[in-house]
Amino acid sequence: MRIALLKLLVPILLIPSLAYNQSADPNPSIEKSIDSILGKMSLTEKIGQASQRGTSSRVKILPEELKQAVREGRVGSVLNVLDRNNVDELQRIAIKESPHGIPILFGRDVIHGYKTIFPIPLGQAATWNPGIVERGAAIAAEEASTNGIRWTFAPMLDISRDPRWGRIAESAGEDPYLASVLGRAYVKGFQGDDMSAPNKIAACAKHFVGYGAAEGGRDYNSVMLSENTLRDTYLKPFKAAIDAGIATVMTSFNDINGVPASGNKFILKTILRGEWNFKGFVVSDWNSITEMIAHGYCADAKEAAFRAANAGLDMEMTSTSYENNLRELIKEGRFTEAQLNDMVRNILRIKFKLGLFKSPYVDRSRDEKLLSKQHLADAKEAAVESMVLLKNKNDILPLSKNNKIDLIGPLANAPHEQMGTWIFDGKDADAITPLTSLQAALGKKLVFTPGLANSRDRRDTGFKEAIAAAMKADVILFFGGEESILSGEAHSRADISLPGAQEQLIKALKKTGRPIVLIILAGRPITLGNILDDVDAIVMGWHPGTMAGPAITDLLLGNASPSGRLPVTWPKAVGQIPIYYNHFNTGRPATAKTFVQLDSIPVGAWQSSLGNASHYLDLGFEPQYPFGYGLQYTSFDYSNIMVSNAVVSMNGSVEVSATISNSGKRAGTEIVQFYVQDLVGDVVRPVRELKGFKRITLEPGQKQEVKFSLTAADLSFHNQAMKEVTEPGKFKVWIGKNASEGLEAAFELK
Ligand code: BGC
Repeated sequence: MRIALLKLLVPILLIPSLAYNQSADPNPSIEKSIDSILGKMSLTEKIGQASQRGTSSRVKILPEELKQAVREGRVGSVLNVLDRNNVDELQRIAIKESPHGIPILFGRDVIHGYKTIFPIPLGQAATWNPGIVERGAAIAAEEASTNGIRWTFAPMLDISRDPRWGRIAESAGEDPYLASVLGRAYVKGFQGDDMSAPNKIAACAKHFVGYGAAEGGRDYNSVMLSENTLRDTYLKPFKAAIDAGIATVMTSFNDINGVPASGNKFILKTILRGEWNFKGFVVSDWNSITEMIAHGYCADAKEAAFRAANAGLDMEMTSTSYENNLRELIKEGRFTEAQLNDMVRNILRIKFKLGLFKSPYVDRSRDEKLLSKQHLADAKEAAVESMVLLKNKNDILPLSKNNKIDLIGPLANAPHEQMGTWIFDGKDADAITPLTSLQAALGKKLVFTPGLANSRDRRDTGFKEAIAAAMKADVILFFGGEESILSGEAHSRADISLPGAQEQLIKALKKTGRPIVLIILAGRPITLGNILDDVDAIVMGWHPGTMAGPAITDLLLGNASPSGRLPVTWPKAVGQIPIYYNHFNTGRPATAKTFVQLDSIPVGAWQSSLGNASHYLDLGFEPQYPFGYGLQYTSFDYSNIMVSNAVVSMNGSVEVSATISNSGKRAGTEIVQFYVQDLVGDVVRPVRELKGFKRITLEPGQKQEVKFSLTAADLSFHNQAMKEVTEPGKFKVWIGKNASEGLEAAFELK
């Protein structure tokens, strides 16, 4: 009560909702051209612009039916036409034979590379390096556009707090700040400053919204989110991408609090168009409009079309409810041609911005760019930076080049698997495996005995040979994890430990007494409880892409230093999920002091909860590895945290700094992280929130002061009245290595 009264007396900063928004910037000449075309288009053509046809990537010959539909102006976009001759043929029909020559927009899932495959997005997030993410997206755009693809369905900006969910692999992880920084980088990389450049493509922020909060981590599952959590966590990266000028947004498959995203007026109209003033277009996910029938939200396709179009969904992917029903809905007066015009306007605007009216055909002059030396070098750098060193007992890494190595495990020589999910265009033959690179570096000192044929292999027939070779080696390198098909869409797992007989093989190898370095290639964090103590070092490599081999080899041999940091909290066991660092405190926060271990409870103990806190009796309250965690080959010390002013005014700012020094023997890169806690709020605030980070590289003995600054706007959140506010009060800040540690200081906002 006292706090509530106080709050009435002190100023609260209301945050205006509209930041600079490139896509909101209307270009008068484009708008004029759109009006002029719209004035001539028939209803069929308008509905056609709102229809996207899908073909299978394997289709080699264009179906006659598709060509005819394009000819009649019934298709606005096509996904998955790959052959550039087919792209040009369809485009020629659209330009020369359709009623008003409106070009087709060709789309494709170019998620983490086209031919040159970068690490999966979760791996790229582990770089904490927007520069390398932007370069990866620019390379993807450069390569994909050589085949006529001018629109990618990326980046996926779904906050992911559940590693059971297979699509965590496609995400930037659990944190809204990191995902926003990287989201902006993806947009810049794909679209550049001017999307009409022939080597740029339109990006698509997906999946709007809440898809990553699928209950139980089961793909497509329902999502229950409070509006506060939706706004302060899940919407944040989308808003960042829209402010960066992203061209398109894709709705998600899930329902949010009972209303499927593809028919959800609140998210599409109120927020996306109303509050954010988004001027690009919204596409459904694959059949997600007609799936509203299975959801139990619409009785039939006509109703689904009505709900989606009325909610502001501009283009339908693959299903044909718009094509079959919008005309009738308009005739019945339930939907208006003016509404349809708005949808078409949004779509044409992006086609104009892409320069498709001027240069509709494939630019064939840039073929040498595919898998160019520079692209491969950048992909290698991204892979090196994505790898997270989780354990390094007795500094076994980096390896000495004189060691005799036994290379084991199902993923040491699996070119397809190292590339990860959503690889339609990357070729196995272009991927360099760890076996190839390590062999080139170590020659005869390396023996390869895989032990298991693939990550799910349960047979122990290869164990004997692997163990015999291990006995003759100084070190075992075990490449384990998951094949790429075990993560990604529709590939959720309830048990996220190493699949197949990998744990058994590691246990058998442990008996040889040789040190084991486990390199995990996987689309998600893997629970390690059963084997954690059996291995000496662990490197999380995610699915690193084309250049996995050279990147891992450089890292293991010390030619490069590990600098990746976890973009997600790593659980000890599935039972801890959801587990994320920026949770609320509860009324009984868990602490080491209050933790009661299962075995310490006397048998027949009297029923009592007093003294206990929010923890698990068996696993406690801490993760295996916290968000932001990662070791390196050197050590960094933090000292001297300083806050520029202990009292900060609402329109002022505060600087927080600390000195970081390299106290080890090698050069290394540290990702210095800056966290904040708002101690009291109108709604409870997270125990920590990331508000900044900086990558610094220091030579041994070198030190550097690192500074972060905050304004009131950086501390905003949505209150009970759903207003975005910054409240006065006390704040804690940390500068540290990860979300569980750091130097602490404080300030007060008045
Ligand atoms: C996925 C989208 C993807 C689309 C087109 C859907 O199944 O959810 O992320 O962009 O297919 O391939």
